[in-house]
Amino acid sequence: MPFSSPRILLGLSALTLLLFHVSDVTASLFSVHKRSPKVVGFDFKKQVPRNTPLANRLRKRQKTVAANIDNEQIAYLINMTVGTPGQPFSVQLDTGSSDIWIPSTESDACREDEQACQTLGQYDSSASSSYVDVGVGQFQISYEDGSAVTGDYINETLAIGNTVIKRQTVGLAFEATRPFGVMGIGYVADESIAATNPNGLYQNVVAQMKDQGFISTLAYSLWLNDLNSLTGSILFGGVDTAKYHGNLVVLPVQTTNGSYTDFTVALSSVSVLDCSGAVQFSQTNLALPVILDSGTTDAYLPDSVVNPILGGVGVINDKDYGAIVSCDLANSPATLSFSFGGNGGPTISVGLGEFVTPVYDEEGNQPTFKDGDTICSWGLMSSGTGPILFGDAFLRSAYVVYDLTNNQIGMAQTNFNTTDTNVVEISGSSIPGASITASAVMASQTFSGIPQETNAATKTGTTQATVAHGSPTFNLCVSQTGNAKKGAASAVGPPRIEITSVTTGLVLLLSLAFGSSVVLLRW
Ligand SMILES: *[C@@H]1O[C@H](CO)[C@@H](O)[C@H](O)[C@H]1NC(C)=O
Ligand SMILES: *[C@@H]1O[C@H](CO)[C@@H](O)[C@H](O)[C@H]1NC(C)=O
Ligand SMILES: *[C@@H]1O[C@H](CO)[C@@H](O)[C@H](O)[C@H]1NC(C)=O
Ligand SMILES: *[C@@H]1O[C@H](CO)[C@@H](O)[C@H](O)[C@H]1NC(C)=O
Repeated sequence: MPFSSPRILLGLSALTLLLFHVSDVTASLFSVHKRSPKVVGFDFKKQVPRNTPLANRLRKRQKTVAANIDNEQIAYLINMTVGTPGQPFSVQLDTGSSDIWIPSTESDACREDEQACQTLGQYDSSASSSYVDVGVGQFQISYEDGSAVTGDYINETLAIGNTVIKRQTVGLAFEATRPFGVMGIGYVADESIAATNPNGLYQNVVAQMKDQGFISTLAYSLWLNDLNSLTGSILFGGVDTAKYHGNLVVLPVQTTNGSYTDFTVALSSVSVLDCSGAVQFSQTNLALPVILDSGTTDAYLPDSVVNPILGGVGVINDKDYGAIVSCDLANSPATLSFSFGGNGGPTISVGLGEFVTPVYDEEGNQPTFKDGDTICSWGLMSSGTGPILFGDAFLRSAYVVYDLTNNQIGMAQTNFNTTDTNVVEISGSSIPGASITASAVMASQTFSGIPQETNAATKTGTTQATVAHGSPTFNLCVSQTGNAKKGAASAVGPPRIEITSVTTGLVLLLSLAFGSSVVLLRW
């Protein structure tokens, strides 16, 4: 599918690559397991491996929105084995696509980056007794970040922790522009085969978990946890009510072109608050279709919303490093607040620091502004003509239940770093513990076209030596000492996108200047 994710690029920083180790179901989950057998939980550990060969892969962004998507180097990887005996893999967990694939030992990607494939897994069909090739040359998928993968479909035994799935259809990549696979856990209808052979849809990993009796509803919950924490979890078939604050609030999944293919929800307001809660910026009465996508590292919003924020935060768009800020902002207690579904919908508060992550040059050093301050990447950007995406930068702060059976999303503020657990199975038409069904605002998207650079921000300088700080105009509650010497920052330009709002009765048509169009329906 043209708009499948993951929307990260190939570059993974060794320092920020987060490996989610699926350990065997832990003692605590095991007891839950007995009480509630149709829940499969995987604890993972995030690991920050150093000096891996991936360190030098991270590099420079190109001037397209698609390429910008790679600018952060965090991927959420889940461990599994494929085959008999099991061959180990770490693959990227992706709510924004629906196919699972792994690289073959014979793939170009593994020939070019042997070490990555040794670390993250490569499949040798001759070493598996359960290998069945079910579609020679039929697998192909391309992601929004420009990466493309082709190969065969195979049926294989797939094990995640103690959960052993038989005859899982898996894409086996022979040609891939990235050296590690993806576990897409989206709707079956969004599988890449739908584009060429709608009758070829198959039961993906989530569907097989249900078919083979591990879960009773097509649903799972994702707790990415804090940016700097070492633990997190995905729970198939259940909700862990200890992992969030307050109540889960349910939102309807919005359709795309009339069908359920992505986890799109309606974003109704965006605000920036300083440490005392004073509003620095606010846009309300929005009805933006936002895709919740764990395969995307950053967040992407239309220029009309994002440009005032970029300006207020003092984000610089650098030729080499893309959207950057001083790493000091990672310590800012300011927050961004996102509300969904209109009145009664959930509001998620995201610390400004969630959008601030280190960047490294090819030698693994952190580049600096010309005054010596460390440069960090900024993770809230223009969606340009592409879809509006909320990736990990947002998702860490939200505990999200993805209910594919009832086409609804449950959302609540993440309870960071908790060690408590209280797992409840999802078995009926409602998400346990969810309070309100918010549906005051609907937004469906009809975007089309290839993402392009929107030039939301001016380029300043070609090397670090010429880059100056941005000067935040928001109160971000961080020490601004030294700003004076930083000189005039060439900050973000004015919004380049004009928003034309034509409100006709219940329908608001928002037309973006770059050719994409978003049809917003409100009631
Ligand atoms: C996950 O995979 C990585 C890479 O192979 C490995 O180092 C790690 O030990 C694995 N973790 C678990 C819990 O199996
Ligand atoms: C491959 O697996 C799918 C799903 O389990 C099954 O329907 C299909 O018959 C299998 N194909 C072969 C050739 O085994
Ligand atoms: C969670 O734990 C990490 C790692 O110990 C720590 O850096 C972070 O500040 C913690 N987050 C919260 C919200 O306490
Ligand atoms: C929706 O359908 C139109 C017309 O078929 C197509 O051009 C567009 O790409 C589709 N949008 C998405 C997001 O699939």
